[in-house]
Amino acid sequence: MITLKSKQEIELMKQAGQLVAACHREIAKLMQPGITTFEIEDLVDTMITKHGGKPHTKGYNGYKYATCASVNDVIAHGFPSRTPLREGDIVTIDIVAELDGWLGDSAWCYAVGSVSDEARRLMEVTKQCLDLGIAQAFAGNRLGDIAHAVQSHAERNGYSVVRDLLAHGIGRDMHEEPNYAHVGLPGRGVRLKEGMVFTIEPMLNAGTHHMYIEADGWTARTADGRLSAQYEHTIAITEDGPLVLTDQAVAP
Ligand code: MF3
Ligand code: CO
Repeated sequence: MITLKSKQEIELMKQAGQLVAACHREIAKLMQPGITTFEIEDLVDTMITKHGGKPHTKGYNGYKYATCASVNDVIAHGFPSRTPLREGDIVTIDIVAELDGWLGDSAWCYAVGSVSDEARRLMEVTKQCLDLGIAQAFAGNRLGDIAHAVQSHAERNGYSVVRDLLAHGIGRDMHEEPNYAHVGLPGRGVRLKEGMVFTIEPMLNAGTHHMYIEADGWTARTADGRLSAQYEHTIAITEDGPLVLTDQAVAP
């Protein structure tokens, strides 16, 4: 069942979302060769706690950290590590914060120093896919319209879309209905309604969409070892269209 959120509930979710956005703004300032994803983990853990929130992924199904840190060919759910990031790496940091019982979820891909044109382009197209998906997120449209906007833009640029990891409804729980893949056909799938809140979180690969999970039970890697990038926002369907609860632009 998809639970619809009231305007007041969406406002509370925006507070949680803005805490995640604030973490990403801080990470952006620190991202440079030599930093470790463990330092980023510490920063996020401290920042969420200091603002009265809770890092929701810590303890989730046995996951130990406040962040996922996915470097280069890691698609998602990488563990923070003490290995310094190197010039040319790309790293996706995924954060879920709970505030007053409500959740915000956003992942962002960062370039470490200057990166190859190939990596830069993958990041750009992935971000465009997120934005094109968001542009389809209005009442009356369907999840397939979002998925199709993502998939068609990715494939027209020569990239593949990960199918084995899904976007999800979110609220008081991290994974609510609907769950959906970022591939699909326009006019298909769940019809969007005011009050729905869910993530859009395309993962694009430079090569094959196939992936595997490492023996640690979490780390998802591309099957061919090529690069992967991801951007994720939590969005609400409102009468005025999509509201990006995890928007990093400073509120006017
Ligand atoms: N943003 C991730 C998601 O979309 C958060 C889950 S990370 C986990 O599901 F490790 F906690 F599972
Ligand atoms: Co998510």
